[in-house]
Amino acid sequence: MSANAQAFDRWIRGPFVAMNTELEELYFARPDRADVEGVGEATKARLRDEGQRHVLALWQEGNTGDGFETAFGVLGNVGMYLGALRRHELTNPAREERSPFREASSLAMHVGTSIGMAPRFATAHLAQRNLAVRGVRKSFTSLADEFLFIDENTRGILSIQRAADALGRIVPLGVSNPVADVEFAAALAALQTAKSANERLFANLDTDRFFYSVRPYYKPYRVGRTEYRGANAGDFSGINEIDLLLGLCRANDPSYAQILVEKTPFMVPEDQARLRECMRHRPLLDEFLAIADQGGAGEPWFQANARAFLAICDVFAETARQHHDELVARFIVGPSAAMDQRHMAGLTASGPPLAALLRSLEALRDQRMAAQRPDLGTRHDDLARLRALCVG
Ligand code: HEM
Repeated sequence: MSANAQAFDRWIRGPFVAMNTELEELYFARPDRADVEGVGEATKARLRDEGQRHVLALWQEGNTGDGFETAFGVLGNVGMYLGALRRHELTNPAREERSPFREASSLAMHVGTSIGMAPRFATAHLAQRNLAVRGVRKSFTSLADEFLFIDENTRGILSIQRAADALGRIVPLGVSNPVADVEFAAALAALQTAKSANERLFANLDTDRFFYSVRPYYKPYRVGRTEYRGANAGDFSGINEIDLLLGLCRANDPSYAQILVEKTPFMVPEDQARLRECMRHRPLLDEFLAIADQGGAGEPWFQANARAFLAICDVFAETARQHHDELVARFIVGPSAAMDQRHMAGLTASGPPLAALLRSLEALRDQRMAAQRPDLGTRHDDLARLRALCVG
C-alpha cells in the first residue's frame, strides 16, 4: 500500500471518525434531529478540507496497480468520505448536477472501474471485508449503535454466506444423496445464527440513534455526474444464492432479475461470479418435486433430505419475516412516520420513495416465506406439496 493510501486510511480510522461523532452529537441534541444545516460548520469544513488533501495526494499519484486489497481499501475510504459529505449536506444530489468533489469523484471512478465495482463505498467495506486494526473496525462514528449495527449486520452476512456455501455444495451431490445431510445441517445452523443476529439487532439497537445518526451515511450521492444509491446489508450474493438454490425466487422473474442486475456492481467481484454461477443451477425444490413425480418420495433418503430442506426453508422464512416486519418496521418505517415531511427525500438508501421501497421489500419477504400470493408466483403450493409428502 502506498504511503498516501496508508495516510488516508489512518485519517479515516481516526480524525474522520472523531469529527463525524462530534457532529452527530450536535445534531442529536437539536429539537429537529434531522436538520443538520448551519450546525458544526467549522468541523464540517475541517472534515471536507482534510479529506480533500488526502484525496488530492492519491488522485495525483494515480496508482491503483497495487493489488485488489489496496484498490478496494481506497475505494472504501474515498466512498466513506463522500458518504459523510453527503450526510453533512456538503453535497446533495437533489440540488447538484454533478458532484462538487471532482477529485474524489475521479479517484473513486478510477479505482472502482479498475476492480469492477460501482465507484462508491459498498456494504463489503463496512461488513465482510472490514479489516479490523487492533480490534477496531472501520466506521463513520464511534457511536455504540453504529458498531452494533455494523457487527450484527456482518454476523448476519457471514452466516448467510455460510448457509449459501453449504447449499451450493449439495448441487453436485444431488438431493437424493444421503450424505447431503452434512450440508443441510450446516445450512440450518448458519441460518439460525443469522436469525439470532436479527434478534439482537431488534432487541438492542436504539431506534433514534440508528435512524438519525447511522442510517444517514447510507444515502445516495453523486460521483461525477451519476447518482449512486446507498449501500445496504443485502449487497452480497449469499442471500440471492439461497433464494435461487432453494427455489423460492427465480432469476428469470422480471422483478427479481432486475434486483440482481441492479445490485451486481455493489458486490465484490467474487460475489458477482458466485451469483452468475448459481443462476445456472436447478433449484433444490424442483429436484425434490421431480423425484416425487417419478415416485421416489417414499425412499428413506427422500424423507430425510426433504425434511432437512423444509427446516431450512422455515428458518430462512423466519429471517425474511424478521427483516421486514421487525427491522425495517421498527428502524425505518416507525421513525420516518414521526419525521418532519421536509426530510423525507433521500430517506432510503436506494432512493425510491419509502412506500415504493416497502412494496418491493414486502414482495421479497413473501417470496422467501413462500406466502400464499398468486400475484407473485411464490412457491407456496409446491412447498405445501413437499410438506404433504413428508409423512409421519
Ligand atoms: C437495523 C437493521 C436493518 C434495517 C433497518 C434494514 C433495512 C433495510 C432496508 C430499508 C432495505 C432496502 C434498501 C434501502 O434502504 O433502500 C434493506 C435491504 C436489504 N437488507 Fe436490510 N436492514 C437491516 C439489517 C439487515 C441484515 C442484518 C441483513 C442480513 C444480513 C439484511 C439484508 C438485507 C437484504 C438482503 C436487502 C436487499 C433486499 C433483499 O434482498 O431483501 N438487512 N434493508
